[in-house]
Amino acid sequence: MYFQGKTVIVTGAAKGIGRGIALLYAEKGANVVAADIDEAAGARTAAEIREKGGEALFVQTDVREEADIIRLMETANRTYGHIDILINNAGISVFRPFFELSPEEWDDIINTNLRSVFLCSREAAKYMRHNRDGGAIVNIASTRAIMSEPDSEAYAASKGGIVALTHALAASLGRYGITVNAISPGWIETGDYSKLRQIDHEQHLSGRVGKPDDIARACIFLTDRKNNFVTGINLVVDGGMTRKMIYVE
Ligand code: NAI
Repeated sequence: MYFQGKTVIVTGAAKGIGRGIALLYAEKGANVVAADIDEAAGARTAAEIREKGGEALFVQTDVREEADIIRLMETANRTYGHIDILINNAGISVFRPFFELSPEEWDDIINTNLRSVFLCSREAAKYMRHNRDGGAIVNIASTRAIMSEPDSEAYAASKGGIVALTHALAASLGRYGITVNAISPGWIETGDYSKLRQIDHEQHLSGRVGKPDDIARACIFLTDRKNNFVTGINLVVDGGMTRKMIYVE
């Protein structure tokens, strides 16, 4: 019942993990503000929620643009009267051979994935700090914040930055009753799950590849007021992949 009537903003809600998060909050009775750069797909997420009897609004937003973010929060607050939860999920995963990575690409990845978390959190918290029971922010990082494959410098740096930004924000916003946590997903399949191979599933300690719902349920846990003793953490949701020891024989 906790989420009934709460206002939840989900960035990157048009597709993939963000869409899954938006649908689960709507199921729990929240007012969902779906923000995304992709107008057609974002509007579809909001329409899908309304068709199922939920409450949703789509606001086209480029999270690289401060003005868009200010407008997003104003619109959410004007429509529902309060902002309670923010899920910073929008992100791009671009991998480039290191010697070909240009400063422009670096800046674009950092601005989309990391600077957006700073701007969205600042603008949402301006409203949340006036709530009687505070608020909650969840930032979607990645296990690539702590482990790497080659040619992932900008993405890894953006996600490592999110983990650090998360505990800094938790420290600054705690006094307003706002919790701030990160989730680091491992492999979350956002395409056709049935096309995955047995070997894909078996490499996880959990015996399966992740789904958007796995991340959505973690968001629910971290944003429930009852769990407000949890703040500043990075919750790894990866089927055990980053805990698995690998010896090649
Ligand atoms: P996706 O590509 O399916 O969805 C990302 C959404 O963000 C899209 O709807 C896209 O339009 C939106 N977006 C991109 N740039 C934007 C911008 N400038 N402004 C507003 N919206 C923008 O990606 P997926 O897989 O759902 O990932 C969601 C988040 O989870 C990302 O932050 C990603 O880095 C993270 N993640 C995903 C993992 C996975 O295995 N799928 C693993 C670890 C982290």
